[in-house]
Amino acid sequence: MLLLLLLFLLFGYSTSFTADDQEVKMMKIFGSGAQLAGGGKNQFEVVDRESVYQQGQQGQFLQFLRRIAYDRGQHPENPNGEAVTVNISVLISNIRSVSEINMDYSLEIFFRESWKDPRLQFGVDDFNKTMISLHESYADFLWRPDTFVPNAINSKTPRDDSFTHRSLYRLKDDGTVITSRRISLVAECSLDLTRYPFDKQLCKLGLESYGYTADQITYSWAVDKNPLEMYPIRLPDFEIEKAYATKRVVDYSTGSYTRLYACFVFSRSAGYCYLQLIVPSVAIVVTAWLSLWRESESSFEDMITILMSIIFLLYSYNSVMPRVSYIKAMDIYLGVCFSIAFLSLIKLSIMTFMRLQILGAQSSSGDYIQVHKDANGQDEVPIRKKWIFSEKCMHIFHVLTQVLLFMFFTGFCTFFFLIYPRLPYHITDPDCDPQIAVANAVKI
Ligand SMILES: *[C@@H]1O[C@H](CO)[C@@H](O)[C@H](O)[C@H]1NC(C)=O
Ligand SMILES: *[C@@H]1O[C@H](CO)[C@@H](O)[C@H](O)[C@H]1NC(C)=O
Repeated sequence: MLLLLLLFLLFGYSTSFTADDQEVKMMKIFGSGAQLAGGGKNQFEVVDRESVYQQGQQGQFLQFLRRIAYDRGQHPENPNGEAVTVNISVLISNIRSVSEINMDYSLEIFFRESWKDPRLQFGVDDFNKTMISLHESYADFLWRPDTFVPNAINSKTPRDDSFTHRSLYRLKDDGTVITSRRISLVAECSLDLTRYPFDKQLCKLGLESYGYTADQITYSWAVDKNPLEMYPIRLPDFEIEKAYATKRVVDYSTGSYTRLYACFVFSRSAGYCYLQLIVPSVAIVVTAWLSLWRESESSFEDMITILMSIIFLLYSYNSVMPRVSYIKAMDIYLGVCFSIAFLSLIKLSIMTFMRLQILGAQSSSGDYIQVHKDANGQDEVPIRKKWIFSEKCMHIFHVLTQVLLFMFFTGFCTFFFLIYPRLPYHITDPDCDPQIAVANAVKI
């Protein structure tokens, strides 16, 4: 109980502290006289003209907001009642990692929004300019769309005093507000690894309004410019095959919303897999096969070592893969390698068995020459004859299995490395249907 009370007190203290902090900051920005928090007319009168002139255009802007009695909580409305369009363009500056384990990827973007707020139209006598630039702190005094990324897991927005994240605001005389922000995002992307490591992945980035339905705010890609731009991006294990922008209207129980998608198709560069998995596993299979050629010398220990190596490979591979319930192409490949090593072991046991039989037969040769006679004195079939292998039979078995294993493995590898990756492969996602693409990404 006491602990709870203590926590409550602490919490209350910390919130009140941050509120104070913000007030202090605002005072710093707007000068000592300007008390703007509430937005009433009376408060405005206490702003002395001297400090407004000192603040220059910024102070003038706040004055302007007072004059038009701007309410930042009210969303802009078009005179004809149509929904206000928010134009969006995105510049992807980096895509950092596509993670199979977490099923996500991270992006650095410059996120630009523009919309027209008819209340903010101004004339030459207001600012003696057709466009004014505003400090990012003015964002708190203007309405802005409540854009969010539905599939984001984590995001970082501009912070004060940070180099890496900044934003800008511009206001045109017709009421158009242009903002740009730099944002880091981690977005969810459910990867389909069925064809790993010859897979392609489609990852999307959704953008929509949280609270404004499609009849209040609609989102649109800024198609008059390049809505989706990209820096040349190099990912360690993927190439960006294409990127495009789509738009959809989604229905929820709270209404219908427009949602924009930036879609990225990544195709995997299998280099990592070749180095880490495929080359070692081929080497292991070849070793198993070669060591079996030495017909009489290969021992069980060798084969067990080979099996252990494959198990080790399987284990290290599984540790970098998520636990999915379907079978990946790589599983089949490693499974075949494992089976070949296992079959080699079985073959070795059969060969050993045969050799022991032959040796046993040779040492006790009387066993099978001895012929039983029945009551009528007729010869019976020697009992152990069916168990006897000749050297020749063993040799044929040996060569035949070696050839079969070789043919099976080369056939399988041909299919797996040459034919399978070329089979047509389509990833479908209704949100990222290339048919509804509004624009393709432009590399800059
Ligand atoms: C949004 O884009 C459309 C067409 O791309 C353009 O006509 C309109 O003026 C833009 N609106 C704003 C506020 O930039
Ligand atoms: C408006 O700006 C122009 C130049 O941009 C300047 O010559 C003029 O004096 C300014 N007018 C006022 C009233 O500040």
